[in-house]
Amino acid sequence: MCGIVGYVGHRDALDVVLGGLRRMEYRGYDSAGVAVLDGEGGLTVERKAGRLANLEAAVDATGRSRFEGTSGMGHTRWATHGPPVDRNSHPHRDAAGRVAVVHNGIIENFAALRVELEADGIELESDTDTETAAHLIARAYEKDPDTAGDLPASVRAVCRKLDGAFTLVVTHADHPGQIVAARRSSPLVVGVGDGETFVASDVAAFIEHTREAVELGQDQLVTITREGYEVSDFHGELAQGKPFTVDWDLSAAEKGGHEYFMLKEIEEQPEALANSLRGHFSGGRVVLDEQRIADQDLRDIDKVFVIACGSAYHSGLVAKYAIEHWCRLPVEVELASEFRYRDPVLDRDTLVVAVSQSGETMDTLEAVRHAREQKARVLAVCNTNGAQIPRESDAVLYTHAGPEIGVASTKAFLAQIAANYLVGLALAQARGTKFPDEVGREFAELEAMPKAVEQALESVDQVRELGARLAESKAVLFLGRHVGYPVALEGALKLKELAYMHAEGFAAGELKHGPIALIEQDLPVVVVMPSPRGRAVLHAKLVSNISEIQARGARTVVIAEEGDETVRPFADELIEVPAVSTLLQPLVSTVPLQVLAAEIARTRGFDVDKPRNLAKSVTVE
Ligand code: F6R
Repeated sequence: MCGIVGYVGHRDALDVVLGGLRRMEYRGYDSAGVAVLDGEGGLTVERKAGRLANLEAAVDATGRSRFEGTSGMGHTRWATHGPPVDRNSHPHRDAAGRVAVVHNGIIENFAALRVELEADGIELESDTDTETAAHLIARAYEKDPDTAGDLPASVRAVCRKLDGAFTLVVTHADHPGQIVAARRSSPLVVGVGDGETFVASDVAAFIEHTREAVELGQDQLVTITREGYEVSDFHGELAQGKPFTVDWDLSAAEKGGHEYFMLKEIEEQPEALANSLRGHFSGGRVVLDEQRIADQDLRDIDKVFVIACGSAYHSGLVAKYAIEHWCRLPVEVELASEFRYRDPVLDRDTLVVAVSQSGETMDTLEAVRHAREQKARVLAVCNTNGAQIPRESDAVLYTHAGPEIGVASTKAFLAQIAANYLVGLALAQARGTKFPDEVGREFAELEAMPKAVEQALESVDQVRELGARLAESKAVLFLGRHVGYPVALEGALKLKELAYMHAEGFAAGELKHGPIALIEQDLPVVVVMPSPRGRAVLHAKLVSNISEIQARGARTVVIAEEGDETVRPFADELIEVPAVSTLLQPLVSTVPLQVLAAEIARTRGFDVDKPRNLAKSVTVE
């Protein structure tokens, strides 16, 4: 979603800000803007719809010298209120052009605030909710005796009036060495360098300059200067941020020689899995990160919900098989966007597992809030330290997939599956449905998965070559059974979002109940085979499904365990994955589907890392 960066220091602010925006491009955006303070009362703003390149061209066209200064801020916008046009791009200014504001989130009471401003004779030039904040701050700064001339106090006063979720970053031409930023339910971190300080939505924006960061709490405001930062709440009480050191470096946020981030991230999956498992088995027990649910309460759990969106939801569908099997607990997996609108039955004995890579997804966050209001216990599985969803949860298990820059989830998805399994094992252990040595054995199998995924990656060249050949297809179907079914859904989602191609995933058993009517000559159908060593009946049923579709002219692409000879006669294309136990198969069989989608998209000429209309983190419902 929107990316924000603010800088006060000794370097050229324009360079720092544009560099920061570039590193946050992965969040998804449709316009961008910058503001630089020249230190002599001048505030220069440029903003453009479209890619960052448009903004840079506009800056160059008007002359970079206009943007000289060592403090400034920038923004990449993902449109919510008003279309992505120059006029709606951030920064927004007050009528006198002295205050500039960038914003992430939604100001829910903006319509009322707009009416209030218009009644005061102020004309708004954009359709955005953000512009109201710029005018309100200017009014507080100029006219309100309690806050006049005091930028942090003016921002605080306005924040108290705003409803909704927001990160606001504010500059004033009279205060070139100061930037004020505030957050409520939207991300904001401070970067602390040597004689320079940053604020950003994401540490990626300043990791090139410093790895020392400070996390802000809910309803907090920070004032940054060259010398450092000061945190307060919205009433001016001094507060403490939570310092941390970023444990990944710049190279983790760069392509590392790959043509696109997504391929790099697909190849990082063994490491992402290993990092996500590391340290979670100690003293013969599975341990989570922030465990604020008492063991007795875990024992009392009588129902589990997994709530998530998109790929994270698919990771929940995979987990259902394991958690029900290991814990003998009913597990419902629900799209977060549907969850709270259907009055789910929740109480103190319900465990809600909220899975989110970004930890910012608004649908999932609202579902978490709803669950907590109903007294359910919430455990977050998240890839982003200190994000809102883990903050609002009772317990947290972080995945350590590292920054995922490609908009389509890959390594975070595999890490989510592993983390969900850890949750299942922790529950089984607390409830005694598995003996400690059984938990230990399951964990050991999980620990072997990075190696298996490495083997699965050996098929990358074969799959890329196949992808290039399938790029002209009209549609692709995906079939699976048992844990292969969510893998089929994930394969179809990847293809839709990256290659803009019609793709559907089905439970193979449903074929004869409708989807088989879609089969026509040469239609590619990807089949995710279960292991022949697992439940023989599942394997046999899927072999029949493949023969049925092949008989009707489909071009079968079969993902099967190495050495599975029974399937060979039915496979027009065979992609082998290593033999692993049934519940762990999604970790290997997803890999070729990710590569296939990326390669089809690339061959069709699309931007694999930034698919159209999509944002990396979706902070609106
Ligand atoms: C698909 C994809 C999305 C996300 C979904 C949830 O490739 O990336 O479907 O999985 O938007 O995002 P998080 O996990 O950040 O809540």
